[in-house]
Amino acid sequence: MCGIIGYIGKQEAAEVLMEGLRRLEYRGYDSSGLALLNGQGLTIQKAHGKLQRLVDRLQKDPLFGTVGVGHTRWATHGIPNEMNAHPHTDCKTEIAVVHNGIIENFREIKKSLEGAGHQFHSETDTEVLPHLIESLYKGNLFQAVQQALQRIHGSYAIAVVSAKEPNRLVAARKGSPLVLGLGKNEFLVASDVPALLKQTREIVYLEDGEMVDIGVGSVRILTIEGKLIQRESIQVDWDISQAEKEGYPHFMIKEIMEQPRSLKQTAAGRIQQGKVMFQELEVLRAGLSDPKKINRVILLGCGTAYHAGLIGEYLLEKFIQVPVEVEMSSEFRYSSPAITPETLVIAVSQSGETADTLASVRHAKKQGATVISICNVVGSSITREVDATLYTHAGPEIAVASTKAYTSQLAVLFLLSLYLGGLRKTAPADENERLLGHFKQLPEQIEKVLAQSSNIQELAGRYAQFDRFLYLGRHVNYPSALEGALKLKEISYIHAEGYPAGEMKHGHIALIDDKMPVLCIVTKSSVYEKMFSNLQEVHARGGKIIAIATQGDSEIRGLIQDGVYLPEAHEFVSPIIVAVALQLFAYHVAVHRGLDVDQPRNLAKSVTVE
Ligand code: M6R
Repeated sequence: MCGIIGYIGKQEAAEVLMEGLRRLEYRGYDSSGLALLNGQGLTIQKAHGKLQRLVDRLQKDPLFGTVGVGHTRWATHGIPNEMNAHPHTDCKTEIAVVHNGIIENFREIKKSLEGAGHQFHSETDTEVLPHLIESLYKGNLFQAVQQALQRIHGSYAIAVVSAKEPNRLVAARKGSPLVLGLGKNEFLVASDVPALLKQTREIVYLEDGEMVDIGVGSVRILTIEGKLIQRESIQVDWDISQAEKEGYPHFMIKEIMEQPRSLKQTAAGRIQQGKVMFQELEVLRAGLSDPKKINRVILLGCGTAYHAGLIGEYLLEKFIQVPVEVEMSSEFRYSSPAITPETLVIAVSQSGETADTLASVRHAKKQGATVISICNVVGSSITREVDATLYTHAGPEIAVASTKAYTSQLAVLFLLSLYLGGLRKTAPADENERLLGHFKQLPEQIEKVLAQSSNIQELAGRYAQFDRFLYLGRHVNYPSALEGALKLKEISYIHAEGYPAGEMKHGHIALIDDKMPVLCIVTKSSVYEKMFSNLQEVHARGGKIIAIATQGDSEIRGLIQDGVYLPEAHEFVSPIIVAVALQLFAYHVAVHRGLDVDQPRNLAKSVTVE
């Protein structure tokens, strides 16, 4: 939710900042802006709409200077328009601030600043910051920002520049992500690593409550209270090309197509001599292997990550035989679950920055649980607060709709279930080995699903005009139905509902008619016969069925309108290949409808506000 960037160095800052904003646009895309210091003062350019509008403005009216800040917005306070776009400034247009987060006590601060004569121009919470900094400024920008931050409540990642100190950039974070990039004679701060990759791969992850004070050629990290921090930088191994479309029309299709590779990366080094190995969990091994020390598991996540958790529940219950619950982080954080030190909490998050999941992790830790995360972004906020992290290693995921990160989360949950089952001896070793054999076939099987992309495209063309869909599945593929429906909703704006097929006759069956296609996941599994009966029920009521089925299944042919046939996979790994087919369907429907697949309306990739 909003991307911020700041630059100080020798290059033209506008170019560097715009390049970074392009890579942050997934975080918000309703308006954008830059503020640069050019030796004479602060110059600003803003635009309502996609980043391209700002590019067009800058072409006509370029900004010059080697120090500046930039922002791409996902509106929270104030509608998306130019006035509410960042950067925001003080009364004299000397101080510029970009902000990601929410300032909760902005009304009271605004009132008191207005009382002191400050003039506000936007409806945003952010605008109080430059005015507050202005009111506290006594010749030292760092100190003024530091004092301002001590007065505000809420969450923020900010970057600030001032015409009064043209060789200084001050940034801070609390509750919203911020990374510092160390380049050659230049420094950057940004909401996320891809924004820095063109300049540097040497990164410092800032912690909550920390500030950076950057000059030309010097940088200090301090706490908001002013304590100096020494922190080693890390070298990130992401390649800039991974954050490019590489010839694909959209990031989403590129990321769907990457799944055979991303899945191999997820598994790399984690299967040894027919066994699952998680080096990262060695420190927790004693607790994890003892049923008296861990007797319950809670999985947490939002959106797609929550769906991965739902599938994880089936796997963990099967292999470790303890009660497993799954909670949406946004509900869990305000609930009163009876968590004990014997509870293992597994937080699933692609970004590692989702505000509700982060708050839930803290909630669980406070109550003494062992908390691990399954995460894609190395060094992200959640990973820094948990006892251990199992990285998904899916590579950067740019499209708002999660695809490869989801299948990698499923892969980690599958491997984790076998690992824990092995530690606790609740799953026979030969069964583990057999299942790993099935797991290893996945990249090849996914290739076969991807090879059907143009058939799925045709199929999508026949259904793209419908405005409601029902997705049905059972057992491990019930959450697949939820995830398939979510994919369609978020990028096609078609109302789609995922539902457990067995529940249909308790209500949803009333909806069935020929105007609502029913997408049924009816792959070969222990519940195949049950799903088959559900297909008959839909068919008998005139429903149009699109089946996601197993190759060679001729039994269903008389019941369905259309089918996508997948290679036969063991049911415990089947949600991974089912997901790929459903991602392709949603993608092609959205393209047929002419929609902006990578940046769907109203959404943002990382939800770092509540
Ligand atoms: O970064 P996270 O995995 O924590 O994000 C959670 C959800 O916001 C995310 O999965 C969202 O539902 C995606 N847009 C789904 O495609």
